[in-house]
Parts: sequence; C-alpha cells; structure tokens
Amino acid sequence: MSATESPRRVSRRKFLGAAAGSAAWIATGGLTGLAAGTALAAKPTAGTRNSLYIPPTVTPTNFGLTAKPGSIDLGGGRLSKAWVYNGGLPGPTLLVRRGDTATIRLTNGLASEPTITHWHGMLVDHKNDGHPMEAIQPGAWYDYNFPILNRAALNWYHPHPHMLTGEQVAMSLAGAFIVRDSVEDALNLPGGVYEVPLVLRDTAFDSAGNIAYKPRSGGFEGPTPLVNGTLNPKLDVDTAIYRFRVLGGSNARIFRLALGSGAKFKVIGNDGGLLAATVEAAQIDLAPGERLDLLVDFRGLPVGTKVMLRDLLAGWDLLEFNVIRQVTTTFTMPTTLSTIAALTNPVTTRSFSFDGMSKINGLEYDMNRIDFRVPFDTVERWRFTTNGNAPHPVHIHGASFQVQTRTGGRNTVFPWERGWKDTVLLNDRETVEVLVRFDAYKGVYLMHCHKLEHEDMGMMSNFEVY
Ligand code: C2O
Ligand code: CU
Repeated sequence: MSATESPRRVSRRKFLGAAAGSAAWIATGGLTGLAAGTALAAKPTAGTRNSLYIPPTVTPTNFGLTAKPGSIDLGGGRLSKAWVYNGGLPGPTLLVRRGDTATIRLTNGLASEPTITHWHGMLVDHKNDGHPMEAIQPGAWYDYNFPILNRAALNWYHPHPHMLTGEQVAMSLAGAFIVRDSVEDALNLPGGVYEVPLVLRDTAFDSAGNIAYKPRSGGFEGPTPLVNGTLNPKLDVDTAIYRFRVLGGSNARIFRLALGSGAKFKVIGNDGGLLAATVEAAQIDLAPGERLDLLVDFRGLPVGTKVMLRDLLAGWDLLEFNVIRQVTTTFTMPTTLSTIAALTNPVTTRSFSFDGMSKINGLEYDMNRIDFRVPFDTVERWRFTTNGNAPHPVHIHGASFQVQTRTGGRNTVFPWERGWKDTVLLNDRETVEVLVRFDAYKGVYLMHCHKLEHEDMGMMSNFEVY
C-alpha cells in the first residue's frame, strides 16, 4: 500500500525525565523557556485584530495531503515557521457526504520524523485509521481509501505517530473534516459564509517568534491562543445566525467558552454530529479532541456592536465578532434536530483506570500488544476512572459512544455530552460510564488520553474488535 518502513523509535527519555519530577519544562533543541513565548503573546488591543483565517474547503477525492514545514502568516504579516498540511494552518477543511468515498495520499514531507494521519471521529477500518504502526518515514506516502459511514459531523485530522503526536500537533499539523448528510440538509442550517469552522488551540513561540513545542509531562500549555491559526482574530458578521463548528485543537488545554455579551450558545451538535434537540448554555468546557456545533444569534444587534468569544479559564479573548451589516434572514431555529437511537443492555462492563500520566490499568502503551478484545456489534459499558493527574480527555477510535453517567467531581452529564461522542472529559475524582458498540469494522483500534503528552508517554491501549 505504501513505502512503509517500521517507524523510527523515539526515545522515551525526554518524557521520563519530566515524569520523574524534574523541571516541568524539558528543553528541546533551540528552544528557550516559556517566558519568550509570553513576551511574544501580544495583548489584544483595539485596532490590531487580524481577520480570521478560513481554510480552503476541499473534496478529498484523489486528494494529496502533505505534511511539511512551512512559513505561515499568523495575521497581519506576522510570519512563523510551523509544520503544516498543504501549507495551511489549519490544513484544508475536508468536506464529504455520507456515502462518498475518500481517497487521500498522505506524503510525509517532514525533515526527520515518521508521521501518519488519523481521521479523528471517522469510522474507518484499521488500515485507514492512522494507527501508529502504519507510520511512514520522510519522503514516503500512504494511500487512504475509505467509504464515509459517519452521520453529519465535524471531525478532524491530525498526526498519530508513536510518541510524536504531541509534537506534531503542537507544530500545527491539524485540520477539520466535515461530513454532511440528508438529515442535516433538511434542517437548512446556516451555510456558506454563515458556517465557520473554529479550530481553537494554544501555542508557544521560541525566541525567534516561531511556533515551538515544549513537551511537559503534565500536558503542554502555551501562553497564546490561536483561532484557525490567527493571532488576535476578528470576524466581521451580519445580523444573522451563524453556525460555528468548534474544535478543541490544543494538546492539553481546556477552554471554557462563553460570549462576552452573556448571550447563550445554542448547541446543536457535538463530536458525533447533531444532538436530538437544541440546548442552550452560557458556558461550555471544551477539551482536546472534543467538538461543538454552536449557533450564535447576532440578529437585532446594531451595526458596530462587538461581541467577544472568550475563554473563561485562561481569561482570554479568543475571537472578536464585529457586526458590520444589517441583513434580513428567514432562518428559524430548529428545536428537533436528529434521532439518536439509544444504546441499551450492555452485555459486558469493562473498567479502565487512567493512572498517573502514562498508564491505563497499570500498563504503558506497547504498539505490538493487544490489551483486550471486544466482540463486534455488541453493546458494552466502559467505565473510566482515574487515580489522579486528570483532566484526561478519553478518546476511543473505531466507534462513537453514548455517555451515561458521570459520578463524583462535576457529577453530571452535560446536555451537550448527550448524543454521540468519541471523546469525553474525565476529571479527578470522577467516574464516567459510556455505552459503546463497534459495528463498523473489526480490527485493531486505540483508546487513549487525548492530552497528547499523556498519549505520547503511554496512556493508550490497543484493543481488537473481533
Ligand atoms: Cu484525535 Cu487517537 O486521536
Ligand atoms: Cu491524561
């Protein structure tokens, strides 16, 4: 299928140093400390906001996707080196319909590291899943070919090579992958310029002002937010309802999203697509890997109004909306969105403890070990617990799941966590139970913490659907 060699094994030493409790920031070649990034984190001020970058949308048919170093304009001519897909940060937005077939050739244009691309949320077989054992060397390519089985949703793509995912995502390899279907079509949701992907992340810069990665066992958090790769972004809006397709694209940072106006988001979907019905929320926590489908209503606001999308945890102004034009819209907010068939009657309960910063049920990841086997097309209850070092955003490949309960800690399942999810946030003292059924393919899949430094250190399991 491709010019595949066994991926270069990368030393665990850089992480073990951190896990053993030495300095939190482990230097890698040429990087300076956190302070350099902080100094470059320009405080948003009026008049210096940059227009939000919107990646081009492409149909992934006979599509070439190349991961390689590039120079990116973060806004207003502020250039940064980064590692990017097809020269963009984020990479192009892939757009498909349920029933289509995606044919994509990934080329590894990185200087010296293996890579492989995972289509987070997409229901694909093992060979198309970007499993780390499929990683390819620089100069090699990998051909993907898979039918689109998913319901309409915002999914995404990012690298998944063994122990290098955190670095490659932080260096900016990521993009949105949008699926459409007839259920979504029937709702006539805001589209065109009224549907906007928002890839949220944080970043750090080295002393030269280039995007830099500093692995940290507790999870990499950078001092500066980027929305679609734009520093201090703004978006000019009409007096209309907008549909924002929001992705938690950080390595480790959780965002608490809110509108500066105090207005509520109308949440219509999450990781696995549309909810059953719209729910409203003034604040929503978004963990790495999670997605939200949010409607924001700018109708009735006078031209000149500014509304800020904020992160209440870091106290960041993420994106400024400027109302610039009065329009008349006929869109009516749907209340019923989709039908979610509830998974019921699990035949097995499995418990997984996310331990320390590198283990699940006491085991660090071994690419060549299958940790458990799961029967095909069978509903199971999976229970996630942790003995500390959370938050752990738990992600499963190969199927979406339904969150049943969260006990301890926040002690609730939020309404926007209903429906279909593939990533769920597990905090300290919490137990989260989900029901899952692998009914797309048999084969070897992954479960892991989506705090990418935990994943890279080994908080990941192979399981086989049989
Ligand atoms: Cu988004 Cu296994 O990852
Ligand atoms: Cu974790």
